[in-house]
Amino acid sequence: MTHQTATTRSFSASAPLKGRIAIPGDKSISHRSLMLSALAVGTSRVTGLLEGHDVLATAAAMRAMGATIERRDDGEWVIDGVGVGGLLQPREALDMGNSGTSTRLLMGLVASHPITATFVGDASLSGRPMGRVIDPLAQMGADITASPGGRLPLMVRGLAPAIPLSYRLPMASAQVKSAVLLAGLNTPGITEVIEPVPTRDHSERMLRGFGADLSVETDGDGTRHIRIRGEAELRPQTIVVPGDPSSAAFFIVAALIVPGSDVTIANVGLNPTRAGLVEVLKQMGGDIELLDQRTVGGEPVADLRVRHSTLRGIEVDPAIVPSMVDEFPILFMAAALAEGRTTTTGLDELRVKESDRIAVMATGLEAIGVHVEESADGLIIDGTGGDPLAGGATIAGHLDHRICMSFAIAGLVSRAPVEIDDIAPIATSFPNFEDLLAGLQQ
Ligand code: S3P
Repeated sequence: MTHQTATTRSFSASAPLKGRIAIPGDKSISHRSLMLSALAVGTSRVTGLLEGHDVLATAAAMRAMGATIERRDDGEWVIDGVGVGGLLQPREALDMGNSGTSTRLLMGLVASHPITATFVGDASLSGRPMGRVIDPLAQMGADITASPGGRLPLMVRGLAPAIPLSYRLPMASAQVKSAVLLAGLNTPGITEVIEPVPTRDHSERMLRGFGADLSVETDGDGTRHIRIRGEAELRPQTIVVPGDPSSAAFFIVAALIVPGSDVTIANVGLNPTRAGLVEVLKQMGGDIELLDQRTVGGEPVADLRVRHSTLRGIEVDPAIVPSMVDEFPILFMAAALAEGRTTTTGLDELRVKESDRIAVMATGLEAIGVHVEESADGLIIDGTGGDPLAGGATIAGHLDHRICMSFAIAGLVSRAPVEIDDIAPIATSFPNFEDLLAGLQQ
């Protein structure tokens, strides 16, 4: 799972992007499809699964804990689950590669099973804070020994039966919410997560879809109380994974900023807890048309037709951040080409992603000639008003797929090529990124 060889790549000024692409399956939904199918009793089938390294790390871990997971030649994944409570002791450490979602959600599952698992990962993942899941899971009775600073490698010794918990999220994190809910699956009684700021709700939707007894109550101030009753019994499902809006984001912005572009991106998931970027880009003047709106796998989906647009800088409302938390690196590229100033705040969580995305983006943007100011919780960017960027720099990707893809797109609108020191991390979430880009350039 770790990236052994550095692959340097240059991206340079592009002809208009034209055509139609379909982007791969949603990463969040793909992880959850494998985990929940592995816990159901019987055979589940998944089509459209994202086959990136992160999701493959989840598949390997669920296999190591007893599930049978196979990919058929036609691309369908077939999963035979062990049942809630039936996870087996893995024989080796679980290699999570670069994937925070795999790590945090699986820690939740292990926490309420009578097994012990060791989690290891690459340099990026080993620098990320796990205290946010250790705290609630320890309260539920799991015994967790982490490396200094609450980091990987770490060992989770689960407790069964675990102790149900009512937990108020101290930060807006779908991973922490999901870790607690998944631990609640095998915990007798009601486990509750109190979520003051709504985050992506795929876990809630899918747990219900698999037959778990899960309720959501919303207070007058918008605080959500999510309650799950254990021990749950999950029924096998047939799942169609919609396209990932966080992957579509790179091509949405590319089409908006490369002059003359007209691109249709098919099958984009538009769950309201994920669709903030489209909203913000429209506020900036982006020409984005939603075609053929429909429901796929219980999620709202549309095809997006995106045309080159003159963008205007705006102040991004911090309330929208959770619904586009992974999209800021590429939004910054839209801001760099917009007319006037774009201000972002409330981005503290970006500092603990695959890299410190505020600092890494500020350094990289400056290197390619963008006027940028870094604050504690955001960036202020003065755009060119559509003029090309200077480019002509080598960007350190810091093992962060979204940093690599964002600067690849910047290269398309730069005078001198933008080089990325290692694009291998792109395969964690979007293995055919370069192929799709090349297809739109012909
Ligand atoms: C994810 C939640 C988000 C997001 C990540 C996927 C998920 O992380 O950044 O890419 O699938 O639950 P946080 O929970 O840390 O915000």
